Amino acid sequence: MRYIEFGPNKDKVSVIGAGCMRISQMDQQAAYAFVKTSLEAGINFFDHADIYGRGESERVFGRLFAEKPSLRDEMFLQSKCAIHDGLYDFDQDYILKSVDGILERLNTDHIDSLLLHRPDALMEPEEVGEAFDKLKASGKVRSFGVSNENRFQMELLRSGLSENLSANQIQMSLVHCPVIDAGINVNMMNEAGQMRDGGILEYCRMNQMAVQCWSPLQIGFFGGVFLGSDQYPELNKVLNALAEKYETAPDTIAYAWLLRIPGKMQVITGTTKPQRILSAAKAADIRLTKPEWYDLYKAAGKQLP
Ligand SMILES: NC(=O)c1ccc[n+]([C@@H]2O[C@H](COP(=O)([O-])OP(=O)(O)OC[C@H]3O[C@@H](n4cnc5c(N)ncnc54)[C@H](OP(=O)(O)O)[C@@H]3O)[C@@H](O)[C@H]2O)c1
Repeated sequence: MRYIEFGPNKDKVSVIGAGCMRISQMDQQAAYAFVKTSLEAGINFFDHADIYGRGESERVFGRLFAEKPSLRDEMFLQSKCAIHDGLYDFDQDYILKSVDGILERLNTDHIDSLLLHRPDALMEPEEVGEAFDKLKASGKVRSFGVSNENRFQMELLRSGLSENLSANQIQMSLVHCPVIDAGINVNMMNEAGQMRDGGILEYCRMNQMAVQCWSPLQIGFFGGVFLGSDQYPELNKVLNALAEKYETAPDTIAYAWLLRIPGKMQVITGTTKPQRILSAAKAADIRLTKPEWYDLYKAAGKQLP
């Protein structure tokens, strides 16, 4: 496994993070296998949100910690808040109340990272700053970040905070990477040249923030995985060829493509299967060559100008 320094506390976190959005139906035994396999593979980073399974994903972990309290100390726990009742909400009271709910469901006294899940168009940076200061002072949250924010939203928010943001979690994969497309097609009149995000990758890199890639295998917005999909024959051909070269699985190569991007990249996997968690862990040890990285990009249907 490979690790990065995360946030102002410089915590050592794995570049592969185990996403917990799909674990809400797991029984104790399956949940233990999910966590144990991850930890044994060197994955110490677990990504939750208060809305996953309407709180059930966090409760699954809470029950595990009740049974085996030492597990909590072996992991870096992240959760998210701000989505509720058809709106996005960065109000101080709401953030504070959400964290209390997260801690209760996870059955822990602190989380290591809190992300604001989606940008609140009506946010007040100073108010968020006050909420973060209170959460830090009380020991309930150790670091703070965002999800699905563009550069200017991060800058605006940062203006009200007393410490740097640690991460931005965005959708990113071989088939969904407008943050890469816009850079490659800069100043072109084509669709790929549209900069929708204002330079998320560059901003995060310059500010030592982690970029966490969610849905690393999905087509579009939860449209199923591109691995083996007849929508992506060329991509699958190149993934399979590289999997053979590196004596690994095609999903490992798809994760390695994301981890080859410079900066503090993390892949947040969504699998619930221990065997596939092991495939993901292997990606940390593979460094694709530059031609391989571009070959995969082009095989996904992207063009260089
Ligand atoms: N910040 C945000 O707005 C946001 C939004 C969405 C998700 N997330 C985070 O990102 C994490 C990952 O998202 P995701 O679940 O959409 O990621 P994903 O890894 O792209 O998709 C996971 C799905 O793909 C299947 N899968 C995984 N590997 C496979 C393989 N080799 N072959 C065939 N199917 C495979 C999984 O099934 P199996 O379980 O059967 O393997 C699961 O149904 C979430 O858990 C969550 O933590 C964040």
